[in-house]
Amino acid sequence: MKVLVAGGAGYIGAHACKALAKAGFQPVTVDNLSAGHPEAVRWGKLVECDLSDHAALPGLIAAEEVGAVMHFAASLNVGESVEMPAKYYANNVVNTLALLDAMRETGLKAIVFSSSAATYGTPERVPMPEDHPQRPINPYGETKLAVERALKWYGEAYGLCWSALRYFNAAGADPDGEIGEAHDPEFHLIPLVLEAGLGKRPPVKVFGTDYPTPDGTAIRDYVHVTDLADAHVLALKHLLDGGRSIAANLGTGRGYSVREVLDAAGTALGRPVPFENAPRRAGDPPELVADPSLAMETLGWSPTLSDLPTILETAVGWHRR
Ligand code: UFG
Repeated sequence: MKVLVAGGAGYIGAHACKALAKAGFQPVTVDNLSAGHPEAVRWGKLVECDLSDHAALPGLIAAEEVGAVMHFAASLNVGESVEMPAKYYANNVVNTLALLDAMRETGLKAIVFSSSAATYGTPERVPMPEDHPQRPINPYGETKLAVERALKWYGEAYGLCWSALRYFNAAGADPDGEIGEAHDPEFHLIPLVLEAGLGKRPPVKVFGTDYPTPDGTAIRDYVHVTDLADAHVLALKHLLDGGRSIAANLGTGRGYSVREVLDAAGTALGRPVPFENAPRRAGDPPELVADPSLAMETLGWSPTLSDLPTILETAVGWHRR
């Protein structure tokens, strides 16, 4: 089966294309290359198209004869979303609704959607199960939640089958070294830490050392991008096998502090990573950790690369290369 992968030239999308190909699917990447990289499209073809070209979408789906959709194409910078909510509503909500409508028009029923732990907002408790209240604290999280809600109602009204996968902190790189993380500008902790350690950037700023955590720095649940990609294939198979629509966390259930990441990165690089303490970053919760039981039980997902040393080892390989 051919699978339309919107945003397949991006970090997680490209890893999903590799996982799809490995599982016997044929990915067809649709990407406007605003943030994605054409050289990351190595499994299946690239169709250069902007999802804002709503009129083109049904024809594209029909011409490529895809049987399902994976949707990664989105704007993802939380800070920018606060400054430019219109961009986030247009890219993440309006264009996704157009994609869902194109699916309706062409009779496509199954979609795996990139959602986010940002839909929860400030945690009331950790680890967070899927029924934790969803009260986003920024437009990025709001737009992901708006799509989750649309999926639910499109499912009830039009029979759409969907999986909304709520990622915690995606990290690491393809263990074969074929693809990795390359955002511009980069704002995620692990690539910044590695580039600082390799002398390609100034020391890392540790945003906040006064959090109510054991070492005072913020805790996140880092999940390997290849494990995320595998979860997408499992979620797709689940839908194609007639499984019920599902919103599921993708994380490990284990959190690491910023200081722990710095220390582990120093070990992976064989030299300490330079850093300086800085004030908290606005909007950062102290701790985000997933309860991943639902994905494990319902999809049979079991992360195998998401321990911090493996995440760092694969990311170091990619950054050195
Ligand atoms: N951090 C630093 N210094 C930096 C960059 C980050 O100390 O230079 C800290 C942050 O304050 C945070 C942690 O490292 O405590 C992780 O930060 P990231 O920017 O890598 O990731 P976030 O947890 O902020 O955000 C990620 C995704 C979002 C998603 C969110 C919740 O990037 O898209 O997880 O799932 F919304």
